[in-house]
Amino acid sequence: MTDASTTTKHAATRILELRAELDTHNYRYHVLDAPSIPDAEYDRLYHELKALEAEYPELVTADSPTQRVGNLALSAFGEVKHEVPMLSLGNAFAEDDLRDFDRRVREGLADELPAGDLFGGGAIVEYSCEPKLDGLAVSLLYRDGQLVRGATRGDGTTGEDISVNVRTVRNIPLRLQGSGWPGVLEVRGEVFMSRAGFDALNARALESGGKTFANPRNAAAGSLRQLDPKITASRPLEFCCYGIGQVQGELPDTHIGILAALKDWGMPISRELKLARGAEECLDYYRAIGEKRDALPYEIDGVVFKVNNLTWQRELGFRAREPRWAIAHKFPASEELTELLAVEFQVGRTGAVTPVARLKPVKVAGVMVSNATLHNMDEVERLGLMIGDTVIIRRAGDVIPQVVQVVLERRPDWSADELAARTVKVPSECPICGSAVERTQLIKRSKGRETVSEGAAYLCVGRLACGAQLKQAIIHFVSRRAMDIEGLGEKSIEQLVDEGLVQSPADLFTLRFEQIVDLEGFAELSSKNLLAAIAESKRPALARFIYALGIPDVGEETAKVLARALASLQRIQQALPEVLTYLPDVGAEVAHEIHSFFEDEHNRSVIAQLLERGLELQEEGDLHPEFAACASLAGFIDKLNIPFIAATGAEKLAAKFGSLDAIINADWLDLRQVERLNEKAAKSLREFFDNPANAERARAIEAQLREFGMHWESAKKAAEGLPLAGQTWVLTGTLEVMSRDVAKEKLEALGAKVSGSVSAKTHCVVAGPGAGSKLAKASELGVKVLDEAEFLAVLGSLG
Ligand code: IVH
Repeated sequence: MTDASTTTKHAATRILELRAELDTHNYRYHVLDAPSIPDAEYDRLYHELKALEAEYPELVTADSPTQRVGNLALSAFGEVKHEVPMLSLGNAFAEDDLRDFDRRVREGLADELPAGDLFGGGAIVEYSCEPKLDGLAVSLLYRDGQLVRGATRGDGTTGEDISVNVRTVRNIPLRLQGSGWPGVLEVRGEVFMSRAGFDALNARALESGGKTFANPRNAAAGSLRQLDPKITASRPLEFCCYGIGQVQGELPDTHIGILAALKDWGMPISRELKLARGAEECLDYYRAIGEKRDALPYEIDGVVFKVNNLTWQRELGFRAREPRWAIAHKFPASEELTELLAVEFQVGRTGAVTPVARLKPVKVAGVMVSNATLHNMDEVERLGLMIGDTVIIRRAGDVIPQVVQVVLERRPDWSADELAARTVKVPSECPICGSAVERTQLIKRSKGRETVSEGAAYLCVGRLACGAQLKQAIIHFVSRRAMDIEGLGEKSIEQLVDEGLVQSPADLFTLRFEQIVDLEGFAELSSKNLLAAIAESKRPALARFIYALGIPDVGEETAKVLARALASLQRIQQALPEVLTYLPDVGAEVAHEIHSFFEDEHNRSVIAQLLERGLELQEEGDLHPEFAACASLAGFIDKLNIPFIAATGAEKLAAKFGSLDAIINADWLDLRQVERLNEKAAKSLREFFDNPANAERARAIEAQLREFGMHWESAKKAAEGLPLAGQTWVLTGTLEVMSRDVAKEKLEALGAKVSGSVSAKTHCVVAGPGAGSKLAKASELGVKVLDEAEFLAVLGSLG
């Protein structure tokens, strides 16, 4: 044998090995939802295969995992004639429809079934029960275990050839696993999109200004019928098989038996598949799935019942285009038509003025709907909404009902005047307080330039002078995870605001007994209790207080980061936006929000009042060692966004000059000596610092970094500081003595980071009863595991 053929042979063996391994991992990941290797390892194997195939193109076969996405876009889909027609299903809506179906089945099988008794009891028929997925039907043809064709249902007789597209659906096997499959096997099932996949796809589309889909079904259909398979491949499509078409070879003789065989051959089947004996068990299944419907990760529009015995299926046969042996039992529809009566505007905590659709009441998925969210004015514009339009309302899962589409065909022939009157307009004055309503601006800072564009939101400028904002601000301020003041519900807050007793959160601390005891819903005891609760809340932890302020975009996590890193209200108030961006998860926008919140005169005075009225913040103290010297000179230069100075340029400058002052003072000749810093960059840098405002700003930021101990020259006193500094801990399962929140706070106070997932870098896992995959992962990785008692002992020993 020649050398070349030896290596080719080696390559061929390795290629087969890799394909088999990748197929297994693909199956574990996409069908079983139980990956056994990390993504990175999968990628490594995939790229090894890809490289080998590039070297030996003659060894590439269509069933290789590298061949899911073809390169060529089609100009049109070919036609596929279905050997066995793809039929539709009859529908049952009421329980009695289903009982009638079962009766017809038993009548049709009278010769096969034992005779019924005198009491109307009869022989029982077994049915397979499956959810009715809301996607689109496809046929997959396997010859000798290889996927050779994919087709849509079309009119049931002729469909479209979508072979290249079905190959891109990750949980469709390109070849069948195991053995024993028929030589020709046509698998049928539904291609669909999960709710999460759909939301992510629409979010991406919105971000890039693309077109969004009204619902997951449209998204699945639109994605599968793309002439360019690369587009299909980029869409989160999934497949679930529910039956077969043409077959040459042996298969089990029950429907469930066939699905079980298909499952063994690598086909995804429904996890909800069940066997029911008789109509009443079918109805139990219908009700159980109905309860679960909102919690399923995908949308369904009903359940499907099929006679399990295949001989009986054949016996029953078809009527017109529907099988007599199967039926779809539908759930109340999740989309309905109704009329848009008006668009009103609501004012939220941050002053955002948002449109809300008032609808002619309609029942959607079993619930009366008369309002729907419209998000913002961009959405109103995107929908092309006019008052009086007929619209499609969708209520899926537990989300708030949404207007998904205007039915233009139903729009009357409105005159130009009418159209103008029916256009949705943002009020120029706040409907609650009458202050001006202004459109938000999007400010982007990049490379030293600021660009301003129109945002999607409108804001009432009234702030706490606006009743709506004040009420929401107080509701948030007193809420459990903020100041945790018990006994102050939304209704009471409304009264306090409406009566003028509370004009800012600070006024809560001057409330007197006589002022509340007469309010609706208050009596002597409840008034006393409320005052006690207010008094008790006067010593909040800094993080809670920051969160309670309701700074836009500052949730609990960011509030904790601010408190932990800067450890004093004063420092947080003074922090420059550029300094804030050194903190984890604080981007330029959030930093800007925080900074401008504390710049605001009114906010400052409310905070000052709160402190005057006896609020004592806890856990203020030294700067957290974790952030000591977290800023580098190079990173600092990079963050200044000087035109033509990118990260590498910043590094070179930092290495050469060593300090900000040296860089500011460097003349053009000095700058020319910096390796690989071109003329344009040098000039741009000089121009930047020649502007005194820029130099001054840079120095101010530097001074603050130094003051906060974040400066690159600040002594690295990290680690020594706190006992658990640098460690990552994970909490899992139920903790019985201490809540998880408290445990997290304690760990963080000791300097540890608390993470949601276990990795090799995890220092320790605290596992309570019910711990599952995280505990398993920890033992797999050999990470230390403590039970709650041991954990409490550790906390105790650390004080
Ligand atoms: S069986 C002859 N099972 O519903 C029986 N169909 O109206 C053919 N569907 O076009 C279909 N989930 O796209 C069947 N578990 C399921 C299904 C299902 C969804 C769709 C399918 C079909 C339509 C029938």
